[in-house]
Amino acid sequence: MCAQTLLLGQTLSFAANPFEAGVDAAHHETHGGVVVENGRIVALGSADDMRAAHPAAEVVDYGDKLISAGFVDAHVHYPQTGIIASWGKRLIDWLNSYTFPEEMRFGDRAYADQISATYLDLTAKHGVTTMASYCTIHPESVDAFFEAAQARGQRVIAGKTCMDRNAPDGLRDTPQSAFDNSKALIERWHGVERISYAITPRFSPTSTPEQLEALGSLWAEHPDCLMQTHLSEQTDEIAWVAELFPDARDYLDTYEKFGLLGEKGLYGHAIHLEDREKDRLREVGAGLIHCPTSNTFIGSGLFDMGGLMAAGQRVGIASDTGGGSSFSMLRTMASAYEVGQLRHRPIHAAELMWLATQGSARALHMEDKIGNLSVGMEADLVVLDLESTPEIAQRSVRANDLWEALFPTIMMGDDRAIAATWINGKAV
Ligand code: GUN
Ligand code: ZN
Repeated sequence: MCAQTLLLGQTLSFAANPFEAGVDAAHHETHGGVVVENGRIVALGSADDMRAAHPAAEVVDYGDKLISAGFVDAHVHYPQTGIIASWGKRLIDWLNSYTFPEEMRFGDRAYADQISATYLDLTAKHGVTTMASYCTIHPESVDAFFEAAQARGQRVIAGKTCMDRNAPDGLRDTPQSAFDNSKALIERWHGVERISYAITPRFSPTSTPEQLEALGSLWAEHPDCLMQTHLSEQTDEIAWVAELFPDARDYLDTYEKFGLLGEKGLYGHAIHLEDREKDRLREVGAGLIHCPTSNTFIGSGLFDMGGLMAAGQRVGIASDTGGGSSFSMLRTMASAYEVGQLRHRPIHAAELMWLATQGSARALHMEDKIGNLSVGMEADLVVLDLESTPEIAQRSVRANDLWEALFPTIMMGDDRAIAATWINGKAV
């Protein structure tokens, strides 16, 4: 028989989507318990009930810290770890000045191994247990990331970034090599332990129609894979797409016409959407990924979280490291709150926590495996200290309920608020 562990603390889980069902969708236990065995949650309830039902379990008592599902970051570029917080550019400039020169280095497997390890160590410190990452055009950059995640027992999604134009020498593939290398990586990795492959055309400006078509047909061959790309991030980017694809009805159409629009598609940023684009994205149930720190850092615009959620879109939230200025999902939630204030309405703490866990898991079509505390789910957890600094503690001590106690940590917390991160049933 395998050993059980009983984690005690406050617990937060979701019975439904709080954007639809309201704050009551959240379930909070002041003295809760989570029983973990073999990498899964096997029981959940009050601390007293869990102690009584699982007397042999090893107890880890987190006091009044808050146990939640681990954070799910639905859009990152692990190869941009080393150039995060680079000053002064907008999207296309930023790609050419900072991103492409750095991504060039990932043909060196040893460098890709080193950055993969650094990235996964840093994000674990921030309570991030799953992420969907872009790699570079080099298949080695994908092997490096998946091997590092596999060694940690971590559920991750990633793919080889495909680009065959408007990128420098040394950072372009072709329609055929993009197809062949992506297919070989799918065969090597997709569904191995906790690894999933995402077909990854970077964005329309860096792929020819021939490459988009090739990747559309690869997706049709492997419809269980996710497909990740960028959509309508900056207005000058959108104007460039219109020049490059004069026949396209809009930006989304440059994907749609090549078979790259679908329910398992993830569209990063999605800020400046036309009505037709919104309608199509909702009809197919595609995932829109909000990257708030990136959208403010690169100067892209304000994602309409309140409006898009009310319209029934599938939305996840992400750091977009390293266009985003942080590895932290607390910081990402804080930024989403601030953007909500400017764009539409304040997003409730329950909605923010749902987005950073179950919402992002749902965008990744993994909501039955990760992103919530419930029996049968994989045991990826984060334990939050709601009094991690004097600044936060002096505010949260006045709280009348969980949300008032938690919101200062969302707005002001950093890695000091992450008391523990559990991946695959183990504290890391
Ligand atoms: N659009 C195309 N590539 C990228 C990228 O690496 N980061 C961001 N933020 N937008 C992109
Ligand atoms: Zn991105």
